[in-house]
Amino acid sequence: MNAHASVGQYRTLYGPDDAPTPHITVRGLSKTFQGVVIYDNFNLDIPRGRFTSVFGPNGCGKSTLINLIAGLIPVDRGEVLFGGKTLAQTRIGYVFQNYREALFPWMTAFANVEYALTLRKVPAKQAKERVNALVERLGVKIDLTRYPYEMSGGQQQLVSIMRALVVEPEVLFLDEPFSALDYEMTLFMRDQLQRVFEETGTTMVLVSHDLEEAVYLADYVLLLSRRPAKIADFPLVPMARPRHPSTLSDPDFVELKGRCLETFQREVRKS
Ligand SMILES: Nc1ncnc2c1ncn2[C@@H]1O[C@H](COP(=O)(O)OP(=O)(O)OP(=O)(O)O)[C@@H](O)[C@H]1O
Ligand SMILES: [Mg+2]
Repeated sequence: MNAHASVGQYRTLYGPDDAPTPHITVRGLSKTFQGVVIYDNFNLDIPRGRFTSVFGPNGCGKSTLINLIAGLIPVDRGEVLFGGKTLAQTRIGYVFQNYREALFPWMTAFANVEYALTLRKVPAKQAKERVNALVERLGVKIDLTRYPYEMSGGQQQLVSIMRALVVEPEVLFLDEPFSALDYEMTLFMRDQLQRVFEETGTTMVLVSHDLEEAVYLADYVLLLSRRPAKIADFPLVPMARPRHPSTLSDPDFVELKGRCLETFQREVRKS
């Protein structure tokens, strides 16, 4: 059907990429919840310094995958390495879907971001400098002296992303980070995230239930099958960055999205 280089490997059928190296290697991953097999001997390579979107049928195990990789839930069997290092040797960031519960309501936005460094025992003066440097680097224009309840959902989610980024993670995981936002804010946040990605070159792994978003943001789209989840496809998204709203009507984009949709529908139809 396609040109998989090997099991678990992203492929570059749609065009050239400057040969990214794998950053996250998942080998022999197995996970069962109450007798339901979610992953059975699953293998995956996620490329370094690239944006990977994860898309697949409802309940197929998208969140479980990044939670297993990020160590939020234990694996039954298998190994996950980050450029050969263990999770404990790797700085990761995680942005949750529910921004309302993610920030501390009694802390200002600035203090919320700074807290990620305080936890890591970074001295206060240095921590403040690092938050300020990040704000400047990202060109964030929101008032960080405000409390979460004084901010819009998008602003709060941007603060969550900053809190994840301030520790300079080697990998940033995002699980449907924009799904609670309205459409206008979602469009804005996609572009903010894209800017952060281009600015930092951090390996990013985004779970999205929105195929357009998954393709728009990604260098690679990991399409999962129904459970036990397998890689249904893992195509390269060849469109130049930065992507613009006009990218959505680019024939290459439309074609790739169509192919992903076909794969998805084929997977959903399988019983
Ligand atoms: N802690 C848990 N205990 C028991 N079952 C679980 C647990 N977490 C997830 N599951 C089940 O595992 C399957 C995969 O869940 P997961 O949340 O990873 O799916 P998903 O692809 O992220 O779904 P969605 O599209 O709904 O976000 C689902 O059937 C879910 O009910
Ligand atoms: Mg999920």
